[in-house]
Amino acid sequence: MKAWELQGFGIQHLKQVVRELPIPGPRQILVKVSAVALNYRDKAIMEGFYLPDIMKMPIIPVSDTAGVVVQAGNEITKFKLGDRVISHLYPTWVSGLRHPSDVSHHALGGPVDGGLAEYILLDESGAVKTPDSLTDAEASTLPIAALTAWFALVEHGQLKSGQTVVSQGTGGVALFTTQFAAALGARVIALSSSEEKLGLLKQLGASDTINYRENPDWHKQVIELTGGHGADNIIDVAGGSSLNKSVQAITDGGQVSVVGFLENITASLDLLPVVFKAAQVRGILVGNLDAFTNMISFIGKHEIKPIIETIYSFDDALAAYQHLERGAIGKIVISIS
Ligand SMILES: NC(=O)c1ccc[n+]([C@@H]2O[C@H](COP(=O)([O-])OP(=O)(O)OC[C@H]3O[C@@H](n4cnc5c(N)ncnc54)[C@H](OP(=O)(O)O)[C@@H]3O)[C@@H](O)[C@H]2O)c1
Repeated sequence: MKAWELQGFGIQHLKQVVRELPIPGPRQILVKVSAVALNYRDKAIMEGFYLPDIMKMPIIPVSDTAGVVVQAGNEITKFKLGDRVISHLYPTWVSGLRHPSDVSHHALGGPVDGGLAEYILLDESGAVKTPDSLTDAEASTLPIAALTAWFALVEHGQLKSGQTVVSQGTGGVALFTTQFAAALGARVIALSSSEEKLGLLKQLGASDTINYRENPDWHKQVIELTGGHGADNIIDVAGGSSLNKSVQAITDGGQVSVVGFLENITASLDLLPVVFKAAQVRGILVGNLDAFTNMISFIGKHEIKPIIETIYSFDDALAAYQHLERGAIGKIVISIS
């Protein structure tokens, strides 16, 4: 099969190769890959600053994968040949809010081979069925960005209709946050650095928008917009000192879902507001298989369509990575077959 291999850290070590077709074990499926979607994780693995000690080269990169089952091990009960499936990043994390301690050692796209190839092997617990409402390209965007938003809002956050959510920006996690929260009947206050993108956020269901570049004190606006109450859950992708604003923008007992670190990977947190608000500052690590399955059925029922900025061809994988570096509205996809 044709595959891209990461043979060392750095984009110069991403090479197209030919590999033996993998053979499924008793509880594995062989999937003909249709599309993969890129995440910050893929860039961080490539550049060698995401758990470099557990990455044993060469690795077929990219975690998020969608395709069709073409072979199944003799103990497989959940899937049959021809099923359209989506990969689950953490096959050993099936249920429960707390992930197994070795979850990263079994993650797709590093250290386990990912989807940037014509075929991928998936464990039975490493896949879910694709909803009929989505193309494979759309489905490929769900395993990391969408499940992270879902896990923060629904599994940890227990979001209820009428509550208020803040989303930050127009990256993958933020757009799914906006779409899911709006579909759940929550009020969404969406932040972006550009007026044009704020328009898109409104189309996706945000009731209020704030330009965080022009209004660096956006947390005060959140408090004003909610009549002094504050937001119930903020899906924080900014990290850094911005985390203080998220704490100030939540209601008493509200949740700051710590997802990303686009501003800075370290934060100096003012603890008084954390204590006085009894704030739940909660780290989020994507999510488990059961949550993925629940999310898929919600997406199908509400006909939620992922936002894809560009679809690249398999041979243009390098250009797709370069696009990831520049940033995108929503997701960047590579079509394989
Ligand atoms: N914990 C997890 O399990 C998990 C899972 C997925 C992602 N992540 C992390 O979450 C972050 C976002 O991931 P993503 O894939 O959604 O990223 P992305 O697609 O690269 O999102 C980038 C967008 O975020 C917005 N942004 C940047 N700095 C901001 C700031 N200071 N305040 C508010 N918004 C800001 C910008 O939106 P505008 O252009 O509209 O301003 C930017 O376009 C990354 O750090 C990623 O590593 C973590």
